[in-house]
Amino acid sequence: MKLHDASGPLINGHVEPALVPQRTLYTGARMPAIGLGTFGSDHVNAGEIAAAVEGAAAVGYRHFDCASVYGNEHEIGYALEQVVRRDLERGRLWITSKLWNDKHGENDVIPSCQQSLADLRLSYLDLYLVHWPFPNFHPPGCDVTSRSKDAKPYIHAEFMKTWRKMEELVDLGMVRHIGTSNMSIPKLKLLLHDARIKPAVNEMELHPHFQQPQLFDFVRSNGIVPVGYSPVGSPGRPERDRTAEDTAPTQDPVIVKIAKRLGVHPAVVCIKWAVQRGQVPIPFSTNRDHYRSNIAGVVSEPLTDSEMREVSAIDRNCRLIKGQVFLWKDGQSWEDLWDVSGEITPP
Ligand SMILES: NC(=O)c1ccc[n+]([C@@H]2O[C@H](COP(=O)([O-])OP(=O)(O)OC[C@H]3O[C@@H](n4cnc5c(N)ncnc54)[C@H](OP(=O)(O)O)[C@@H]3O)[C@@H](O)[C@H]2O)c1
Repeated sequence: MKLHDASGPLINGHVEPALVPQRTLYTGARMPAIGLGTFGSDHVNAGEIAAAVEGAAAVGYRHFDCASVYGNEHEIGYALEQVVRRDLERGRLWITSKLWNDKHGENDVIPSCQQSLADLRLSYLDLYLVHWPFPNFHPPGCDVTSRSKDAKPYIHAEFMKTWRKMEELVDLGMVRHIGTSNMSIPKLKLLLHDARIKPAVNEMELHPHFQQPQLFDFVRSNGIVPVGYSPVGSPGRPERDRTAEDTAPTQDPVIVKIAKRLGVHPAVVCIKWAVQRGQVPIPFSTNRDHYRSNIAGVVSEPLTDSEMREVSAIDRNCRLIKGQVFLWKDGQSWEDLWDVSGEITPP
């Protein structure tokens, strides 16, 4: 039986994974061009997210974006085990995890990855990212003023010690690729200069109101695939990541107009735009209709060239995930974390 819904062709309620576009990494490996995010933003519990992982696999997702700090890898591991046991070879899944900020120490990287592998019930990861370039711990669920008294700035020599251990994970066969997240161009330039194994991916905030054109072009021109987090503008993000100036891409008149033409939710337009632009969106959802329409959106009628141009013109340079908890001294503003001057912010 072939069914159709408003967001694209569905066969018996799922999208055929072979139809989902893929991105080729510099190693030649291919990753699905959409993944499911798994960060519950401090309010969606691990059980619901694990259920969404199983449900998303059933509707066609093969790529899952995990992290130790999300506090749910153990539950997701059981879900993945069910998925593989039911009818899927491990090799057809793409699983990402991330090293948290309090585990940058040379003796912490390998055990931390081992813990994620054990929790996720996997023998290898497809991709392991350094979650943030700052080695500054803050507790899950903390508020925006939370600061570690031991907070440190980015020191490249220190980061390289962490990166050497990331490279060792590849040598050991524990991970297939390594990558970065929340990096700036000046930090990436240093890393590209010094890395033995260069990052395959940079995970970064990307949505129609925060398109980061310079960083997007920089990573692509260096053979790094941009993975876009908060692709629909993270409407459920934690309180610490909300300010009065924030805007919502799903409420933008251009996005709403295109959504009406296609008969889909504005979130689906954000996802379609992301895939067509060339980044890999990783939308979070625990609602089956939502996560199904997000993946259906990438295999159905594309945005027109003129719609793509209209969306590229609504960039507002509106960063939602500002990272204030990583600041390392008094009197700083969140812009200091992102090297907006073009130079790494001095310690
Ligand atoms: N590397 C990093 O530092 C970093 C930072 C932030 C996020 N991430 C990753 O990126 C993922 C996604 O980012 P995010 O969770 O911040 O934000 P997001 O994916 O932009 O937004 C998720 C929210 O959008 C809603 N939504 C999704 N699809 C929808 C649809 N079709 N219709 C209506 N509502 C929809 C979801 O609600 P429902 O559940 O009700 O559908 C959820 O509240 C995270 O889960 C995480 O894996 C990484």
